[in-house]
Amino acid sequence: MCGIVGYIGAAQAADIILEGLSRLEYRGYDSAGMAIFDGEKINISKSVGRLKVLEEMTHNGETMPGCVGIGHTRWATHGVPNTVNAHPHFNRSETITLVHNGIIENYIALKEMLKKKGYEFATDTDTEVVVQLLDYYYKGDPMEAITKVLQRVQGSYAFGIIFAEHPDRIYAVRKDSPLIVGRSKDGCFIASDVPAILKYTRKVFYVDNQEIAVLFKDDLRFYSIDAEEITKDEVFIEWDAKAAEKGGYEHFMLKEMYEQPKTVTDTFSPRIKDGKIVIDDLNMTDEELAAVKKIHIVACGSAYHAGVTGKYVIEDLARIPVEVDLASEFRYRNPILEEGAMVIVISQSGETADTLAALRESKEKGFRVLGIVNVVGSSIAREADSVMYTWAGPEIAVATTKAYSAQLVALYLLAMKMAYVKGKIDDVELDSMIEDLKCIPSQIELLLGNEKRIQRFANRYVGAKDIFFIGRGIDYSIALEGSLKLKEISYVHSEAYAAGELKHGTISLIEKGTLVTAIATQPQLYAKTVSNIVEVKSRGAFVLAVTTEGNDEIEKNADYVIYIPQTNPLFMNSLAIIPLQMFGYYVSVGKGYDADHPRNLAKSVTVE
Ligand code: G6P
Repeated sequence: MCGIVGYIGAAQAADIILEGLSRLEYRGYDSAGMAIFDGEKINISKSVGRLKVLEEMTHNGETMPGCVGIGHTRWATHGVPNTVNAHPHFNRSETITLVHNGIIENYIALKEMLKKKGYEFATDTDTEVVVQLLDYYYKGDPMEAITKVLQRVQGSYAFGIIFAEHPDRIYAVRKDSPLIVGRSKDGCFIASDVPAILKYTRKVFYVDNQEIAVLFKDDLRFYSIDAEEITKDEVFIEWDAKAAEKGGYEHFMLKEMYEQPKTVTDTFSPRIKDGKIVIDDLNMTDEELAAVKKIHIVACGSAYHAGVTGKYVIEDLARIPVEVDLASEFRYRNPILEEGAMVIVISQSGETADTLAALRESKEKGFRVLGIVNVVGSSIAREADSVMYTWAGPEIAVATTKAYSAQLVALYLLAMKMAYVKGKIDDVELDSMIEDLKCIPSQIELLLGNEKRIQRFANRYVGAKDIFFIGRGIDYSIALEGSLKLKEISYVHSEAYAAGELKHGTISLIEKGTLVTAIATQPQLYAKTVSNIVEVKSRGAFVLAVTTEGNDEIEKNADYVIYIPQTNPLFMNSLAIIPLQMFGYYVSVGKGYDADHPRNLAKSVTVE
């Protein structure tokens, strides 16, 4: 969601802001803007639509000279996406400007209060209230005004603020929305995420909740909400800068699909030592792990789908009951967390508002929370009791692929480790599973080699209105993710159904030619799913079957078959999802859509 970039230093701010915002496009947005101090006053340019409109409008920033500025890409929450509602916003005398990511929950009450004091509002946003409130409290000392405002506003926020009377600095502050600060020899930066400033610096500071950063051209200071100076540690970002580039691929999504063999290897290989699974980052002894009686997995979107697979794998291997919840449901259902339960939150970004809230709810109730997170230093990574990182590197495409694959592997490792410490599997079984795991990257490579075939198949379905995905057990969890991949980027209506549930409603939607993708990789469920294939076939469906090598007789019933190499059935998702990701991608491309930037979606959902 909204992206923020700010710069103060020796270079032209507009160049850096436009470049940085382009690196945040993946977050999803509908308008963009920037404010630059030109030596005398603050100038603002805003536009609706893609960033290139703002670039054209400002001649790539040339019409906005100055070395201090803040920029923003907005994903509308309060007020339609238009130029007026786009950020940055001004106070009434146009001497204070602000960009915001998050939601100010008490903005109506604050607006009423300010209206009574004579303030008028130009926009429908919650954000404008904050800049007018700053105006109200500002008596010459920005820090005093900011700390007063922070005491009044409720909700989530990351702010970048410039005061025309103090143009030698940018103020930045956050609560529950991401914000980092960077420093290079040419100046200081603020950004919603690392890729925005990776071109300029690898030295960053993670701003904590309600900390205030003050950036000067050659200095950086941090304060508590009470305006007391604090010290913070600089973090060196190891990411390869190329990881955030397209590297010749048409879309980040395609590039990221191709990175999956590496991602999977990077996630498991450091955790296999001398034939054993060692998860140092868990910070739990084998005894503590063996004592876990129940697991609650909580996540959103694809991370939730990884969690559904995790339930099957953990229950099957470690014989520990697992409940999987959507974070937005879990946080409000007053969950019962029993003695001996552990909560696992899964999140690529580590910033998803509902997942973060679920983590806090669990911690408040006194439960140990393990985060399976991709972004180092993110809120979930910092607040969880222990963190298992998925080493997928920066993921830019809105629709996740490689981070999802890494989440699966993290869950397999955890399941195997728990099964082993609980004595549910022996050394021989563990060895065999580790060997299977080690083959997955090259098997993914093989499946990626089917790209052209899947593209041709996808081209036949660019006009489809409805597509169904069915499967049982782990195959059902694969269907959930396959269906989401398709619908989120190609806008084709799609549903995933537990194959056994078809007869209770969905089958009435099957017509002549409806595409049904049937996933049948689980040996003990194969015959049952084939029966369901026969049922939809006899109602006219066109069946795409995804099954394992050796199941050739499925060709009698299915119209088109994609074969998956053999592995441990518990790991099948890691392979079967590859052609489904590719299918979704090529339906989107075939329809002429930008697969990296699906309409209305955001990569990092920082509001609930
Ligand atoms: C958004 C993204 C999905 C992601 C979900 C959860 O909807 O588009 O790809 O699965 O958020 O995000 P998280 O960062 O918590 O994994």
